[in-house]
Amino acid sequence: MTVLAHLSDLHLDGGATRAARAARAVRYLCALPGHLDAVLITGDLTENGAAAEYAQVSEVLKPLHERFPVLVCPGNHDVSAVFAELLAPPRAAAVHGGAHILLADSSLPGVAHGRLSPATLEWLDARLASAPQTPAFVGFHHPPAALGIPFIDAIGLRDPSGLAAVLSRHRQVVAVLVGHAHAAVSTTFAGLPLLVAPGVVSTAVLPWENTETWSYQDANVSLMFHTYTDGVLATHVRSVPV
Ligand SMILES: [Fe+2]
Repeated sequence: MTVLAHLSDLHLDGGATRAARAARAVRYLCALPGHLDAVLITGDLTENGAAAEYAQVSEVLKPLHERFPVLVCPGNHDVSAVFAELLAPPRAAAVHGGAHILLADSSLPGVAHGRLSPATLEWLDARLASAPQTPAFVGFHHPPAALGIPFIDAIGLRDPSGLAAVLSRHRQVVAVLVGHAHAAVSTTFAGLPLLVAPGVVSTAVLPWENTETWSYQDANVSLMFHTYTDGVLATHVRSVPV
């Protein structure tokens, strides 16, 4: 069985409040008695993409790196160049627990919406072609489908047809994993499960829940576990008090 933990949207800003929320998720995972094949973080590790914020990310995630393989990609609040210089390459590809994990950079400088560039789609296509028998998880930051959260749907992944075309060529893709919405959502894209990890920093509210704010800052810290056994994917949402 492949077991992946999936976190998103830490938004570390140098302050203590958000660092404590991210540290809570790290502490939860590091205290698990059982095995995880990898931990994925699908973007917005920082609030502003500043060097000091990446230093805070490295410090908060250190215990996680000591125990598990950790794969990350940037979000719209990150700055890809700074992310690449101080944290990790903006693309990640590795096999863990028998699963091919591919994380890509969907961020664009200076705007909140996302796009997968032709070069990124070529990279994804080539990587998937290199291991056609290995179950694959494809991840990035921006959801390629509308989720029913107007604020997020306006700044999702633009031009998702290129991604759909790539995915349609590789039957081993199990699911698409994203963040950005600060909400645990399951839907579909290009005939595949599209799984949106909750935000560690906050939880988005739906228009019919609250008209005063777009997110709750004090909700539990949530994350997902994706399991894959004998061709079957199951996703669990775990929520822990801060
Ligand atoms: Fe975010």
